[in-house]
Formats: sequence, C-alpha cells, structure tokens
Amino acid sequence: MVLTAGGLGARAEARCRELSRPPYSEDANALTRTYLTPPHRAAMDRIAEWMRAAGLSVREDEAATLIGRLEGAQAGPALVIGSHIDSVRDAGCYDGPLGVMLGLACVEALAASGKRLPFAIEVVAFGDEEGSRFQASMNASRAFSRRLSEVKLDVRDRDGITLTDALTMFGKDPNKFGAAAREAGSVLAFIEPHIEQGPVLEAAGAALGIVTSIAGQWRLKVRFIGRAGHAGTTPMRLRNDALAAAAEAMLAAERIATKNPAGLVATVGQVTVKPGAPNVIPGFAEITFDVRAGTDNVRDQGLQQVEAEIAEIAVRRGVGAEIDRVQNLPAARMDTQLQSLLKRAAKQTGHAAPELMSGAGHDAMMIADFAPTAMLFIRCAGGVSHNPAESVRSEDCEAALGVMLAFIDLLAAEHAS
Ligand code: HGY
Ligand code: MN
Ligand code: MN
Repeated sequence: MVLTAGGLGARAEARCRELSRPPYSEDANALTRTYLTPPHRAAMDRIAEWMRAAGLSVREDEAATLIGRLEGAQAGPALVIGSHIDSVRDAGCYDGPLGVMLGLACVEALAASGKRLPFAIEVVAFGDEEGSRFQASMNASRAFSRRLSEVKLDVRDRDGITLTDALTMFGKDPNKFGAAAREAGSVLAFIEPHIEQGPVLEAAGAALGIVTSIAGQWRLKVRFIGRAGHAGTTPMRLRNDALAAAAEAMLAAERIATKNPAGLVATVGQVTVKPGAPNVIPGFAEITFDVRAGTDNVRDQGLQQVEAEIAEIAVRRGVGAEIDRVQNLPAARMDTQLQSLLKRAAKQTGHAAPELMSGAGHDAMMIADFAPTAMLFIRCAGGVSHNPAESVRSEDCEAALGVMLAFIDLLAAEHAS
C-alpha cells in the first residue's frame, strides 16, 4: 500500500511559516535564525515537541543537532532525513526547515499507517548550514559525518564570540563536540528534501527535481589596505583608496564569471569599510567572494583568475591585498542508486522529476562521502530564495511527501531483499 500525503505535506509547509516569526527569529519583522542563538534554541524546542508528538525519541548532539528517531523492526543503520534550521539574514522560511518538516511528515504518515520499517528512521535538524554567524559553514553536518578536522572551534562571530564559547553558552560541552560524529556505517542513506532555490523546475513546469550533483564553492575574505586621507585635499593621482580597489575587484570577478562559458558564478556579499566617514578616503575595505561552479576544475580556474586580478589591481593602485581562503567546498555527487529509487518513486506517484545540478550548497555535500546521499528538490516561486519572498505551493509539498513515502517503500523493499 503506497501511503498518501493526506495533508501532512501541507502541514509541513505551514510549520515552516510558524517558525519564521519570533521567538524563532532574531528580528521582529524578518527571519534571521543563526547558530546557537536563542531563536535556534526556541526552534529546536518547538520541533522537538512535534517530533515527540509523532512518536519519535528525541535527543540533541554536542553540535546542537536535533535528532528524532523511530526504531525499525531490525537493528542496523538508519535512514536519515533532514536539513538545516538556521537561516541567512532576512531569509525565506523554507530554505532548510522544509526538509526537516517533510522528514517529520514521513514519520507521521508511517505512524498513521501503522507501518513498521525494517530500519530505523531519523529526522535531523542541523543548526549551522548557512555559516551566517561563524564564517565557515556546515559545522553541524561536518561533525555528523566525521569531518571534525574541518571545524575550527576558535572561529569568532561579529561580536568576537568564539564557537567554543557559543557552544558553552548554548549548554553544550565544546570538549565533547566530537561526540556528534556518527559511527561509520550507522547511516543507511541520507535524504535531504530542499527547495530548489533556482528557476529550473518552475521553467520546466515540474513540482519536483532529483539532484545529480551540488556545485563546489570557494569562500574568500579579502582585505584591501590603502591609506585614509582627506576627501577634499587629496588629488586623485595621490590616493590609495582601499574601497575603490575593492570595487574594481568586485567588477573584475563579475566580468570573469559572466564571460565564463561553463556556468561559473561569483558574488560579493559582504563589504566592510573603514573608517566609513563620507569625507575620508577609505583606508581599509574587506569584502567576501563566493565563487562556484558545477565542477571543481571550472571553480578552481575561476578562483585563480579572480585572485590574479585582485593582485594586479592592488599593485596598480598602491594598496595591500590579503586573501583568506575561508572555505573550500568541493562539488559533491549524489548517490546514483538513491537517485534511481527517487526516480522510480516519482514515476510511481505520477510526478515528472527532472534531474538537475544544485547551484546552492547543502548539508548533503558534507554527508555524501560518509553515507549514500540524495536530494529531492521542490519548486519555489520564481526561483527566489535567501529572500523573504521565498514561497512554495502546498500541493508541491504534498507531492514531495508522496514521493518520499514511495521512496521509503522502495528502500525498505530493497533492504528486505
Ligand atoms: O550558500 C548556499 O548555497 C547555501 O544556501 N548555504
Ligand atoms: Mn541557504
Ligand atoms: Mn539550504
């Protein structure tokens, strides 16, 4: 008997909206929920309530990942469904939470049917995919998938609070952060349902998509050190304007990506200028670069071109340039076996689910080398994301849940054979 979503997919969507307001956001009129903050705690507690009501046993690991678990008929590795519950600043409410809510809805549908799976099923909510608070991202899913050496506990947020201190203030023991690492072989498969965050599915008239791979990304922090000066008395030819150098570097990165035929993208998202007075030539400017491509060699070539331009601009303008490669996220391929099960599940439930690459990064990237990993994309209006206008259709969430339940059926049948 293939289970139907029966409104649980629509409720998953509604729950994301509930989590978009205080106390689940740092802002009264926008959604901002960053790692190890009171809104993160409030969201974990609310989701834990929903998990318990669905019959899951609930625990938190030392990286503040929330884990709901329903035992299976046999011992052994668990099917894990989940995503992240942290957000960017002024975010949409579906990027992350929808994957957790759909995982929970799967358990609720299974419980309602009285169906017992041969394997345990876990629903996980990672608290740090975006890296909005501490520059390096995905610390929780890195811990989960035993990539502990990549987590820098001394990284600081804008207020100078270290990840170590933030964990302690959140009630976690930073010395036990490593205990969040899952045993090798303990995860049968990891599935991350997620909004597409792009326009491909909507353009194809498809509610759902199956992810083949996730683009690799470099995150840079570049400091330009010039010379502050009087805006009125300093002739243009005698200036070492740090912000003008940064601006030229930003446009150079845009030109390199725009001209690249292989889908390279480059973004400057954060700018810090000092002293930041209207009548002072900026002596200091720090900007972030986010450079991505579907394959690592295109990504890396793009990075080298951007860094070469930064160096040339700095010399020509007489400013210093310090490049920090803050994060290296290699492109990740999704498991082909799981992709074919998702395709069969989509076909069984009457949904076209085109295959596509993900330009957005996801916790699934961190887990793909640790356990068989797949992603199911859900159409989002206009491909808009990282924006409060982010929206999904309830019927697409119902469709996603239907495919997930059929997928679980196929996985269980395969597991039994
Ligand atoms: O930046 C990303 O691609 C993801 O939303 N963290
Ligand atoms: Mn995001
Ligand atoms: Mn996301």
